[in-house]
Amino acid sequence: MEKLVQKACEMRQFAHAPHSHFQVGAALLTQDGTIIGGCNIESDSYGLTICAERNAIFTAYAQGHRKFQALSIAMNSNSTPCGACRQIIVELCGNIPVYIADLTGSIVTFQSYDLLPHHFTLTT
Ligand code: THU
Repeated sequence: MEKLVQKACEMRQFAHAPHSHFQVGAALLTQDGTIIGGCNIESDSYGLTICAERNAIFTAYAQGHRKFQALSIAMNSNSTPCGACRQIIVELCGNIPVYIADLTGSIVTFQSYDLLPHHFTLTT
C-alpha cells in the first residue's frame, strides 16, 4: 500500500490543472504487480478534462491490463473520487481497495463498491 500511495503522490506533480489548480495523482496496481500512474489533465474546453483516476485506469487498459488489486489517489484536500470516476472504477476494476491520501500523509481506505453502491452495469 505504501508504494502505491507514494506513486500516486508522485503523479500529482504531473497534473495539468491551470483552471482549478487542484492537482490529483493516481496509481493503479495490476494483478501482475505493475503500477500504472495517472494525473488530471484539464482543457480550456472544460468538459474535456480527464481525472487522474480515469487517466490511470484507461492507460492500464490501453496496455492490456484487465485485473487489478488496488487503486491509490492523492488529492490536496480531504476529498474523494467524483461520480464519473466511481463508475469507471467499479466498472473496469471491480471491488478493489481505494487508498486516498492527502498532503498531510493521512490515508483513508474505501472498497470501491462502497463508494458507489448499486452501480450501473449492463451485466448482472
Ligand atoms: N479531479 C480528479 O482528477 N479526480 C476526481 O476524482 C475529482 C476531480 C480533477 C478534475 C479537475 O482537473 C480537478 O480535479 C478539479 O475538479
